[in-house]
Amino acid sequence: MVDNLDKIVNLCKTRGLIFPGSEIYDGFANTWDYGPVGISLRNNLKNLWWKKLVQTRPNSYGIDASILMNPKVWEASGHVKSFSDPKVDCKNCKNRQRADHLIEKFDKTGTIIPDNMTNEEMDAYIAEHKIKCPVCGKFDWTNVRQFKLMFETSRGTVEGEKDVVYLRPETCQGEYINFLNVQRSMRAKIPFGIAQIGKSFRNEITPGNFIFRCIEFEQMEYQWFCHPNDSEKYYNEFKNIAWDFAKECGIKEENMRFHDHDKLAFYAKSACDLQVKFPIGWQELNGVHNRSDYDLTQHSKYSGKPLNYLDPYTNERYVPYIIEYSMSPERLMLAVLCEAYDEEKLPNGDTRIVLHFEPKIAPYKVAILPLQKNLSEKATEIYRILCNEFMCDYDEAGSIGKRYRRQDEIGTPFCVTIDFETLENNTVTIRDRDSMEQIRINIDDLINYINEKVK
Ligand code: GAP
Repeated sequence: MVDNLDKIVNLCKTRGLIFPGSEIYDGFANTWDYGPVGISLRNNLKNLWWKKLVQTRPNSYGIDASILMNPKVWEASGHVKSFSDPKVDCKNCKNRQRADHLIEKFDKTGTIIPDNMTNEEMDAYIAEHKIKCPVCGKFDWTNVRQFKLMFETSRGTVEGEKDVVYLRPETCQGEYINFLNVQRSMRAKIPFGIAQIGKSFRNEITPGNFIFRCIEFEQMEYQWFCHPNDSEKYYNEFKNIAWDFAKECGIKEENMRFHDHDKLAFYAKSACDLQVKFPIGWQELNGVHNRSDYDLTQHSKYSGKPLNYLDPYTNERYVPYIIEYSMSPERLMLAVLCEAYDEEKLPNGDTRIVLHFEPKIAPYKVAILPLQKNLSEKATEIYRILCNEFMCDYDEAGSIGKRYRRQDEIGTPFCVTIDFETLENNTVTIRDRDSMEQIRINIDDLINYINEKVK
C-alpha cells in the first residue's frame, strides 16, 4: 500500500492514468483528465459494479437520466434550500476553507463533531482555539457562512429570459423521479432496484487530495425500493454488498471499516459509510443509507403525482422505502490505486514499482513485447488475435527489462514475449506480473490461459 498520495499523483501523470485538467493553460484547479490507462481502469470498475448490481442482481434495472432536470426536482429534494457547506475566508491570503474541516483537523481528541455545530458555534470554536489559516499561517477569518454546492447555469429561449438550471449534484434524483416509469414499463414488483452511473457536479469549497474530492465526478448509485417493514433487513444486505464489492476490487479487509452515522438526516432511518484507509487517513469510500419514504414523498408533493405502489398480492398501497448504495468510481479508483501500489526490492538491488491490481480490473490485461524489432510481424499477428479478447498494449521500444517495468507500473498482469523460438515452434513466454515468473506456452493456448487467470 502506498504511504504518500504524491507517489500516486506522479505515477498517474507519467503513466497515462490521470492528467491535471487544462494543463497547458496552467491548469484548472481540481479538474482531472483521464488518460488511456486511467479511462480503462475506471471503465473496468464501472463495468464490474454494473455487472454486480444490474446484470446479476435479480429485479435490477439500469437507467441513464438527464443531467439537467426541472429545477423543481432540486426544490423537492431539499438541495436548493440546504445543500451547502460552512466556509470561512482568510482575510489575509483570501483563501477559502471549510470551517468543519479546519475544526476536525485541529481537534486532537476526536470528540468534536462539527456536523452537530451551528455556524455561531464554529465561529466560537475557531476563535477560542485561534485556529490559523493552513495556507498563510495568519488568524484572520471572516465569520462562518454557508456556501452553496450546486453549480448553476441558465436556460433561455429568448434573449433576457433566463431560468436557473442546476448541474445535478447527485444522480439519484433521476432514479427517484423515474420510479413509476421503470416500475410500470418493466412490470417490476417491489422489491426492485434502479441503478445509474453518470456525472455529478459539486462546487466543493476545498476539493483536493487528488481525485478524492472533485468538482466534477461520476456516481454509481443504486436505489432499492422495498416495503417499509423490510427496509432494515435490506439496509444490512447492502452493507454486505458494499463490503464484498470493495473486496472484489482488491481492497484488503484490514483496510476497510464501517462508520455508522451518529447524526442522521431527519428522514433517514440508518446510515453508514464504508471507510477505507487512504494515505490521508480513514475516509469514506461509499455510503449506504436507509432513506425511508422521504424521496418519493417529496417528489409526490412537489410534482402533484402520487408515487406509490399497490401490492398486487396483498392489495396494500404504500410509499416504498429506499435503500441507497452510492459511490464515485473516482474515489474507488483512488482506493484501488493506493491499495495496489507497491515498491519492491529486487534481488539485484533495484526497486520496482508495481500496481498489484486484481487482473479483472487491470487497465491492460496483456502486453505484447517482441524481443527485437525484427520480430514485430509475428508480434503484431499475436496482438491482433489477443486484442479481440482483451485490452492489450503493444511495445517494441527499449530493453525488455524496461518494458516489463513499465507494464508493472500500470499493473498489466501478463507480458507475452515473442522471441526467435516463437518462429520455430509457435510458443511464447508469458510473464506473471506479481511473481515475475515466466513460462513457455503455445500461442494457441494463450487466450484460455489468460482468461482463466483474469476470471
Ligand atoms: N445520493 C447520495 C449522495 O450523493 P454523498 O455521500 O454526498 O451521497 C455519495 O455521495 C458518494 O459519492 C460518496 O461516498 C463518494 O464515493 C462520492 N462523492 C461524493 N462527493 C464526491 C466528490 N466531490 N468527489 C468524488 N466523489 C464524491
